[in-house]
Parts: sequence; structure tokens; C-alpha cells
Amino acid sequence: MCVALGSGFLMSALLTACKTPLGVIKTSAKDDIVSIPLTEFAQTDYKLIRVSNYNYDLAIQKQPDGSYLTLVLKCTHAAQPLTKTGDKYYCTLHGSQFSHGGAVMKGPADKNLSQLVTKIVGNNIAIRLNNSL
Ligand code: FES
Repeated sequence: MCVALGSGFLMSALLTACKTPLGVIKTSAKDDIVSIPLTEFAQTDYKLIRVSNYNYDLAIQKQPDGSYLTLVLKCTHAAQPLTKTGDKYYCTLHGSQFSHGGAVMKGPADKNLSQLVTKIVGNNIAIRLNNSL
């Protein structure tokens, strides 16, 4: 839809508006570790991460104490990828809903979202994909 709109300046403005409105960072892992520069959080305390060859998006949240929390956006009912809706996550398969922090708000899911080990290493946030908390 974005490509079919207007031309010239208008087209340029619309395409800018169509770019990853949620600020999704696309990246890859090395040795099962994803590294995200801390500078990505200079203007925000939340980022969605899409890792190549990993089936689920990750939501990284900066915590009030300066640490980072990483949620795997995988429904805990039957492993459906979740959709971000406002500040919550929604499962389109059977309707489960999860809070911003990953807690179950509505079933049938009965477990909170998985969290990945996330540490600050130098000027980066390091997320270990194969080691949930
Ligand atoms: S897979 Fe998400 S509610 Fe069933």
C-alpha cells in the first residue's frame, strides 16, 4: 500500500512514515548471542528485535534500574508468534493476551512469556538466545 501512494515529495514523506513504525531492528546472532548497541536505547526504553533464522521477535525493555529485560514473543499456549498491540501482546491463534512485561492477562495460555538472559557487555546489550530464565 505504501508504494502505491503519490510521487515526489509526498511519496518520500509517506515512505518514511511506512518504515518499521515500531522501530524493529533486524539483526543476526553470532554463537547464539545477539548484540545490540546501547545507543539504540538513547531515545527509547523499548525495541523490537527480529533475528534472522530465529522464529520469534524479541522485545527488549530497559528497566528503571538500568538493566534490560528481553521477552520472546512466542505464545506459551501453542507457540504462535505474538503480535504487538499497543503496549500488550496478542496471540491471533486462540486469543491469549500478555502484558507489556510478559504476564498472562487472558488465556488459554497459562504461563508468562519466556525471558532471555540479557546483559550489558561494553557498549552493547548481549542476549543469549539459547538460555531462557
Ligand atoms: S497459541 Fe496462543 S492462545 Fe493458543
